[in-house]
Amino acid sequence: MLRELPRVVPAPPDKPEFAGPDHPMRKVTRQVAFDPAGWTPERAAKVAALFNGLAAEWQTRTSEHRNEPLDDALSRGGAGSGLCVEVGSGTGNATRVLAKRFSRVLALDLAIEMLRRAPAADGARVQADGAHLPLPDGCADAVVLVNALLFPDEVARVLAPNGSLIWVNTLGDRTPIHLPAADVDRALPGEWTGTSSEAAWGTWCVLERENP
Ligand SMILES: C[S@@+](CC[C@H](N)C(=O)[O-])C[C@H]1O[C@@H](n2cnc3c(N)ncnc32)[C@H](O)[C@@H]1O
Repeated sequence: MLRELPRVVPAPPDKPEFAGPDHPMRKVTRQVAFDPAGWTPERAAKVAALFNGLAAEWQTRTSEHRNEPLDDALSRGGAGSGLCVEVGSGTGNATRVLAKRFSRVLALDLAIEMLRRAPAADGARVQADGAHLPLPDGCADAVVLVNALLFPDEVARVLAPNGSLIWVNTLGDRTPIHLPAADVDRALPGEWTGTSSEAAWGTWCVLERENP
């Protein structure tokens, strides 16, 4: 069950109209969240090639408001400390924020060119596929996905019983990799509870197992 919190971080003017419901990544996002068979080796190779190609210019896509939804999720969503596993960490935009909050951060990404550009000081960088995380069951106090694909079974597997999933879309429903909070909840195996809200241009939710 999700509780929606009122917005406290205002939406700045001139939100970029970056992507809508027809964006090709939107279809992939939904498919992999609701059907594990939707993530094939061919698709993984295509997505890796896409993001390797975008890596050099990735930092030009950031804005001063980019991390405000993550900051809000961390402070009002009730996520804890300990080991944070960030999947789809890219060039480390969010890793910097997570490093201040958690005692250890593992930044995982499929695209090596993205990882190469991420600062080493913020977290251990590991090339890995979110559909097959090289991590033991129940090891993570938090799994963080910022504009990243949701592989629900893997998230549930690596999260500790009381761990939190932190899902952020920095441009809300204009983010190419976007799911509304209710769909994140629906995609996860079992019963989950948590909060969701809007902040700056983005949306977020933080979910934990209902019966750990
Ligand atoms: C839209 S970018 C977001 C990057 C970063 N979180 C940010 O907000 O700047 C999505 C990232 O997810 C990575 N990615 C895509 N599919 C993945 C997968 N199956 N496993 C791990 N990372 C993946 C991409 O390489 C890319 O770096």
